[in-house]
Amino acid sequence: MPIQDSADYILQIENVTKTFAGSKAVDNVDLNVRRGEFVTLLGPSGCGKSTLLRMIAGFEVPTSGRISMRGQDMSNRPAYEREIGMVFQNLALFPHMNVYDNVAFGLRARNRLDELDRKVRDMLSLVGLEGFETRRTGQISGGQRQRVALARSLVTSPDLLLLDEPLSALDLKLRRQLQIELKRIQQEIGITFIFVTHDQEEALSMSDRVAVMNKGSVEQFGTAIETYHFPKTEFVARFVGETNLLRGVVSERSSDGAVICLDDCDTQVSVLTGTEVAAKGDRVAVSIRPEYVVLGSPDKHPVSAQITSHSFSGATVTYALNSVAGPLLAQVPFLPDKGHPLPKGQAVSVGWPADSVTLIPE
Ligand SMILES: Nc1ncnc2c1ncn2[C@@H]1O[C@H](COP(=O)(O)OP(=O)(O)O)[C@@H](O)[C@H]1O
Ligand SMILES: [Mg+2]
Repeated sequence: MPIQDSADYILQIENVTKTFAGSKAVDNVDLNVRRGEFVTLLGPSGCGKSTLLRMIAGFEVPTSGRISMRGQDMSNRPAYEREIGMVFQNLALFPHMNVYDNVAFGLRARNRLDELDRKVRDMLSLVGLEGFETRRTGQISGGQRQRVALARSLVTSPDLLLLDEPLSALDLKLRRQLQIELKRIQQEIGITFIFVTHDQEEALSMSDRVAVMNKGSVEQFGTAIETYHFPKTEFVARFVGETNLLRGVVSERSSDGAVICLDDCDTQVSVLTGTEVAAKGDRVAVSIRPEYVVLGSPDKHPVSAQITSHSFSGATVTYALNSVAGPLLAQVPFLPDKGHPLPKGQAVSVGWPADSVTLIPE
């Protein structure tokens, strides 16, 4: 990647740590966000996502490290001077005001009255709420309240919007619909979004880049495709989707890959991805996503296995297998005319394409 000038970044987080009563909620985080990017902080509950977002917003002060925006150090800037918008999980709409007044709030507070009516109407149109101006926020649906919160935070034209799990209280169908809407709106107005979620599918479907967090640290920061297909740590491999992790030792190492000899069997696995961090003799794991595992009759593929159970999910069926290399999951297209689902106890063999395997240092 070419070296970028700091002017390319709207937000730079350098070595930021936040300690609460001696324990690190955020641990030495470095993160640079480009203008117009949709970046997601993804991780399990308690990993420090909200704390990091609140430091960006200026509601918490880092214990150490530096946060800069638009090339300027924000250390001594209070929240209201940072010119950013924020949408919280609980939305915090004003219940005694109607939709119009909720959206107009930020402009009235800044005394920007000339442009007020046009801006509020533009925002209501952007989020699809024309005609709802006089409704109270108690008289609209959860999805519509979400839209009001978004319009309210965008009306002052911030160039950076922070969203802390804004969709997690909604049912799945509405969530999917709003994910698409949010992405459309972000692209239409071209501002930078920093979005927090613990849902990996949500992160992968919306983001330009995903920062996967674990115990206060960012374990990997990359595109959705990189974090899913080329996880660099065991945590990322397991958290961003399901995976098979097989352990072994590097038995060969060449310029274009490595061969891993798996524990407890003589199976050799070729790996092409992630091998630059490993040397011959190192203990490593390999990650193989269940959808790359192929099943065949015994002896067709290198690893022999038995079916232990299956779960059907419409287009695919996921088999749990007991293999000589350990337990495995295989997600295969469901073909009712091809004898699927295979019965428990059925002997099979499994394989995978070499380019679907990623090496993970132990
Ligand atoms: N104000 C606070 N005082 C003490 N501990 C806090 C405070 N805010 C967060 N924490 C702790 O910091 C850790 C990270 O919390 P948080 O950032 O809310 O995680 P997430 O948003 O990823 O669920 C948790 O262990 C939480 O209990
Ligand atoms: Mg949180």
